[in-house]
Amino acid sequence: MSASRTADALALDPRALRADFPLLSPERPGGRVVYLDSAASAQRPRAVLDAMDEYYTTTHANVHRGVYAIAEEATRRYEQARVTIGRFVGAPRPATEIVFTKNVTEAINLVAYTWARKELAKGDAIVLSEVEHHANIVPWLMLAEERGIELRYIPLGADYHLDLSDLDKLVEGARLVSVTSASNVLGTVVDLAPIVAAARRAGALVLADGAQLVPHRPVDVSLLGVDFFGFTGHKMLGPTGIGVLWAREELLEAMPPFLGGGEMIRDVRLDGFTPNELPWKFEAGTPPIAEAIGLEAAVHYLEGVGLDAVHEHEARLTAYAIDRLRSTYGDEITIFGPEPDPVRRAGVISFAFGGVHPHDVAQVLDTKGICVRAGHHCAKPLMRRLGVGATTRASLYLYNDEEDVDELVRGLGEVHKLFG
Ligand code: ALA
Repeated sequence: MSASRTADALALDPRALRADFPLLSPERPGGRVVYLDSAASAQRPRAVLDAMDEYYTTTHANVHRGVYAIAEEATRRYEQARVTIGRFVGAPRPATEIVFTKNVTEAINLVAYTWARKELAKGDAIVLSEVEHHANIVPWLMLAEERGIELRYIPLGADYHLDLSDLDKLVEGARLVSVTSASNVLGTVVDLAPIVAAARRAGALVLADGAQLVPHRPVDVSLLGVDFFGFTGHKMLGPTGIGVLWAREELLEAMPPFLGGGEMIRDVRLDGFTPNELPWKFEAGTPPIAEAIGLEAAVHYLEGVGLDAVHEHEARLTAYAIDRLRSTYGDEITIFGPEPDPVRRAGVISFAFGGVHPHDVAQVLDTKGICVRAGHHCAKPLMRRLGVGATTRASLYLYNDEEDVDELVRGLGEVHKLFG
């Protein structure tokens, strides 16, 4: 890290950043919220709202259709957003390799319905892990049921990291390894390098779910060495309704289209159709135009703050939060996740508090204006593996600070008083 980067990192001031987020304002109608649920969905800075508002009020028309000025400008802005967003994750050919979807769920389904249904047959194997979000399990379960595909799972180790000790055996003969890059429950950051290496040795492709990584630290898909990579707008300060699939161009070229309709065709006859070029072949119907422009603004905002600074801030705050929770509540709190580690752990803190049901914990915290998520976090197989039905989860982002963590610790004191 360069000296100037270090200085940037030290300059991240969450309280000053909060002023950019209308929903986090102390003057918000209804009062200030302590927002600790960014793993579910982050908040938006004014710059994102303004970019979408400006687009709608000055330029909106459908893209790739009209020949009039605002339609051409809308098309130019939409395609420019694609390139900005692709460059942000190191896509070598952003203009063709970035496909806009609705969310990561749709990005993974796109791969399952196109690449996998074309390439895989009965008896082929796919390797997942025990910590996956339902979005990276259910599409494969559906495929397994339909095609007789074998699913194998990289187990979770006692240290809350994936146990890679039998990786070569697990991956042997597999066609795809599809894993998260960071767990939305445990905060575990998955070391993709050995997984990619094992997949390569076995001749398998790799899909990584980047939903919980891209918002929080610099990501370069080429350096990761994966083949497919999905992430989503609303967890990285952008709008809902837009996700991204990046894949290597030659894979996308060979994949059949996903949804059928307008935009994704070059020609349609009564007896057939010719698909469009990349990336539009995978974007049927009117795409998320304003959302792409909003997501581009989110990328500019994150670049302005600096992803290294965000990463460093969250690593420090995660260590602070875990230490405060443990030193205040001792055995009353069980944290499900790896020990603080700037590289291998993200700011997602799932816990059990005494014998209190996570929904009760979250409801009491809500009375203090503290927003956390309680439930299975769309990871029921992982909940079973942990031996719990649900957890309470606090997740941190660039606008959180020690004060927010202290509020959480104080709020749990109320839970203790009521239920302890
Ligand atoms: N995947 C999101 C979460 O973990 C919704 O909360």
